[in-house]
Amino acid sequence: MFKVQFSAATTEEFYAKLKENATILLCAERDWLANSSNLAALIGINMPQINWAGFYLLHEDHLRLGPFWGLPACTRILLGQGVCGTAVVSGEPQLIDDVTLFEGHIACDAATKSELVIPLKSCQGRILGVLDIDSPSLARFTKDDLFGLTGVLDLLVAGSDWEPS
Ligand code: SME
Repeated sequence: MFKVQFSAATTEEFYAKLKENATILLCAERDWLANSSNLAALIGINMPQINWAGFYLLHEDHLRLGPFWGLPACTRILLGQGVCGTAVVSGEPQLIDDVTLFEGHIACDAATKSELVIPLKSCQGRILGVLDIDSPSLARFTKDDLFGLTGVLDLLVAGSDWEPS
């Protein structure tokens, strides 16, 4: 049963519930903008100790702010810049325990201390953008978060007609 707000005692339980609810949300719609908006909100209201969760979408030479939960944020990030631009150029997730130690980190919110950025890839492996999650706590994110969120992004990509321009 869909529960827009849920609690979880463990990380494992959190991702089981996030996936269950994301699956139900994504079943009802295939529009990428509607689905990524709802997913950002679902993560934002349920994930403990975070202050921002959202998408940046790839537009030729830059990333542009997409659907998010949290405070207003930087709108454009050049490829290779910041944690998000680095994730796109490398094609690899960026798990940053302390953003002050990441050279070139873009501070949209001075409260952010750690950050997890995961490239969003199409079924064919093309990079569509990134999911960025920020926390006001140091070392908030672990490999378990990376694994769980990657699974949720796979659901989003498979469950949406993804055509941002
Ligand atoms: N910190 C990111 C910028 C986006 S905000 O955190 C929402 C970066 O360094 O790319």
